[in-house]
Amino acid sequence: MEAIQIPGLPPVPPLGLGTWQWGDRLIWGYGGGYREEDVRLAYRAALKGGVRLFDSAEVYGFGLSERLLGECYRAYEPKPLLVSKFFPYPWRFSRRALLSALRGSLARLGLPRLDLYLLHWPWKPVPLEQWAESLAEAYEQGLARAVGVSNCNLGQLERVAGVLSRHRVPLAANQVEYHLLERGPERSGLLGAMRAEGVVLMAYSPLAMGWLTGKYSLEKPPPGRYRAQRYARHKARIPHLLHTLRAIAQKHGATPAQVALRWCIEQGTLPIPGAKSALQAEANAGALRFRLDAEDRARLEEAAPLEGA
Ligand SMILES: NC(=O)c1ccc[n+]([C@@H]2O[C@H](COP(=O)([O-])OP(=O)(O)OC[C@H]3O[C@@H](n4cnc5c(N)ncnc54)[C@H](OP(=O)(O)O)[C@@H]3O)[C@@H](O)[C@H]2O)c1
Repeated sequence: MEAIQIPGLPPVPPLGLGTWQWGDRLIWGYGGGYREEDVRLAYRAALKGGVRLFDSAEVYGFGLSERLLGECYRAYEPKPLLVSKFFPYPWRFSRRALLSALRGSLARLGLPRLDLYLLHWPWKPVPLEQWAESLAEAYEQGLARAVGVSNCNLGQLERVAGVLSRHRVPLAANQVEYHLLERGPERSGLLGAMRAEGVVLMAYSPLAMGWLTGKYSLEKPPPGRYRAQRYARHKARIPHLLHTLRAIAQKHGATPAQVALRWCIEQGTLPIPGAKSALQAEANAGALRFRLDAEDRARLEEAAPLEGA
């Protein structure tokens, strides 16, 4: 089976599962249409489908995502790679803050160390270099097998890589928004530079928060103002893109979501779609089981051109 190599970690199939939904009420409505048992079943379905990487963060569900993920991890085999993130709240000033937050994540997950620990946002006022020093320390203390960042542009990535390299710690990943409606990481040169350096681009919101699954449309947007408005600037191109995704899906006996995820995989990235249920997790894992051909890629390029997306 095809695999992606995150520096310092064993290779895994090139599709993960995001757990922002697990415990988040505000954006995703946890506790309404889906709850604890549903996400547990999602975990098992993803594992069964070949997924071997799960993404969380201390802020997701105020820690509930990490707790639920840790319970699943301990209960079921085989063991996947687990990822979590440090949130640079404005009141977190000291270098020790990252290590103490990491220990909090480990306690919620019930683990002695994380596979991959990321700085969630490169936000001021604390300079990025300070958080990079803390990431190196987490690695050196054996609290994380690999470290990286999220939401960093190329300049920011280079600053972090500079600090880590002085510690001989590899920069493993940068998690950024990337999908057919958001190709900024390609336009800016970020994806190309990361490929050249062997840093993995973890593609978040690879289904554009549900818009690319085919079950929503301009007439029937996803629930909640945030998700409904999120891609308003792409309004004009969404109907044609959805039509194209459906046509390619039909040709492969797949779903529009699987085609959207497959496109991310074939761009050399690691998409981490969020899932609320076993059905969603199982369907998304299907992206590991077919390939797009040159005609499919050309059609997607026409429907979601690099310039503009
Ligand atoms: N580092 C960061 O700053 C950052 C930011 C955002 C996300 N992330 C990570 O990336 C992950 C994924 O991003 P995301 O959750 O924003 O968006 P996404 O993966 O693009 O969309 C997930 C949503 O799409 C719908 N869906 C998923 N699979 C489906 C299927 N097979 N069929 C039909 N609908 C399906 C579900 O919503 P409905 O059922 O409600 O339609 C699901 O909650 C997150 O969980 C998180 O781990 C990281």
